[in-house]
Amino acid sequence: MSRKLHTPRTKEVTKGDIWLEFTQLAAENKVVNLGEGFPDFPPPSFVKEALCTAISGGSDMYQYTRTAGHQPLVKILAKFFGRILGLEIDPMQDILVTVGATEALFCAIQALIAKGDEIIIMEPFNNCYKSMTVMAGGKPVYVPLKPTNVSGPTLSSADWMLCPEELAGKLTSNTKAIIINNPNNPLGKVFQREELQMIADLCIKHDVFCISDESYEWLTYDGAQHVKIASFPGMWERTVTIGSGGKSFSATGWKEALAVCFQREYNMFGTEESYFRQLPKQIQAKRQRLANCMSSVGLQPIMPEGGYFMIMDISNMKVDLNDRDTKNELYDRRFVKWLIKEKDDSTLDAVEDILKQ
Ligand SMILES: Cc1ncc(COP(=O)(O)O)c(C=O)c1O
Repeated sequence: MSRKLHTPRTKEVTKGDIWLEFTQLAAENKVVNLGEGFPDFPPPSFVKEALCTAISGGSDMYQYTRTAGHQPLVKILAKFFGRILGLEIDPMQDILVTVGATEALFCAIQALIAKGDEIIIMEPFNNCYKSMTVMAGGKPVYVPLKPTNVSGPTLSSADWMLCPEELAGKLTSNTKAIIINNPNNPLGKVFQREELQMIADLCIKHDVFCISDESYEWLTYDGAQHVKIASFPGMWERTVTIGSGGKSFSATGWKEALAVCFQREYNMFGTEESYFRQLPKQIQAKRQRLANCMSSVGLQPIMPEGGYFMIMDISNMKVDLNDRDTKNELYDRRFVKWLIKEKDDSTLDAVEDILKQ
């Protein structure tokens, strides 16, 4: 082909993408990739039944539906989230159904960001925020969540905070949006009401949008309360709230048949039978098992208050990383590469042990 494969706009999109690099490295070295999170258990029966009901529903169920979202689905989403937010949500105007949260993020960023616009992204972050921003011609501006009040034997994601002055200092006349991820992947941090208020105040003061990725909203532990930033005064009209049906119902490969599931959760909301109550309990026990396993080999887990992931403090691990190929990289990247390449058998054994327990 004589034409160039990439347009200049897409050339930088995947540069330095941690997901691409480490997924490939894990595949090449045949190690278990704990950086990829999805349930190792089937979705509950009512979810499977919803799929059967949907596909047994006659010929209409196999044809096009409304492009912005299947009507029964947008109606129950408006009713469900309207109750949580205490707002009247218009299912036809305010809701867009996409193929997963990934497409919703892509659409939101493409729709809001023009060439030269800046988006504030909190570190650590889901890799796609950066590539989607670059794809839209925007500029990612990073602000870190940092550990504070580090005390006691187990660190918690709650210890990781934004510095309000640092965040405020990143806003310029080019800032178009702030992305928040609550609960945060990979940290597991669930933002406190006061932290959200501080972000909301800045959004309003500087007249910027908020893209709130709430894919893990139903996965919070130890009683941590998930609060929607769109519920703060002045935020509904400037927030794009993104959820993930796949993560909410433990069927990350599905993107449809969810209306019946949300109807069930609407009816059972707040009761013990609610899946949104049962799911975090089920995963919380697994969280402890993984933390114990990591501690037993000297890694210090940062206990996540939410989400699928757990990050480790490796500062106590004194490893001789004498790999010259990686000598200019950051220590954490070198450490993971060392783990993948040099410890592939032992990591596999450790994961098998956890699965057997
Ligand atoms: C923070 C975050 N947002 C969005 C997504 C994508 O979700 P979905 O599977 O619904 O596209 C993920 C998936 O891992 C995620 O971790």
